[in-house]
Amino acid sequence: MKVEGLIFDLDGVIVDTAKYHYLAWKELADGLGFYFSEEDNERLKGVSRMRSLDILLEVGKIELPDEKKQELAEKKNKQYVEMIKKMSPDEILPGALSFLKSAKAKGYKTALGSASKNAMIILNRLEIAALFDAIIDGTKVSKAKPNPEVFLAGAKALNVQAENCVVFEDAAAGIEAAHNAKMFCIGIGNKENLPDADYLIPGFEKFTIRDFEDLIRN
Ligand code: BG6
Ligand code: MG
Repeated sequence: MKVEGLIFDLDGVIVDTAKYHYLAWKELADGLGFYFSEEDNERLKGVSRMRSLDILLEVGKIELPDEKKQELAEKKNKQYVEMIKKMSPDEILPGALSFLKSAKAKGYKTALGSASKNAMIILNRLEIAALFDAIIDGTKVSKAKPNPEVFLAGAKALNVQAENCVVFEDAAAGIEAAHNAKMFCIGIGNKENLPDADYLIPGFEKFTIRDFEDLIRN
């Protein structure tokens, strides 16, 4: 496989923001009078903000008009942004920073491919924005994963053919999006959650750029 571009999802791949999303969604659910569990929160991974709200309301068996939903999504986001504004570089997941740095040193082009509209705040707080040659986030695309738009836009911005890109993803919808873009996809997680990943790693802690090159050589 000829690989020139590496595209990284953000939430769950480079940083664990799911815990902050959970706290903010849970507070919203508490206010609406129902319990939103961590297990329910699993269903929100990789899913857009509005779709996440729909899933949450489904759990609470609540139906609301669009206007009210918009208001609730904004309320949750305010809460979430307050939390991520306090993040620091030590929250980068183990091994991710050195993987990114060594990928760049080896000459790979790197892109971010995230559904989040808050990606820039997080990248700046983690001080890693400069490690990406292109940043495609929720403010730049309109079709949510599993639509391949975010990854195709990443490949285009890197000026690399889609088939020469590899995606790193922690969500099933993201893996489907990568496959829809005709990209090889390395899943961060386990077989149970990500049965369709082309290769699985638990994280970057024990997966170096050397391991990556061995993998794509074979
Ligand atoms: C994804 C997360 O990266 O971004 C989802 O995995 C989240 O849980 C989505 O809903 C949208 O994020 P934001 O920051 O735009 O609300
Ligand atoms: Mg993710």
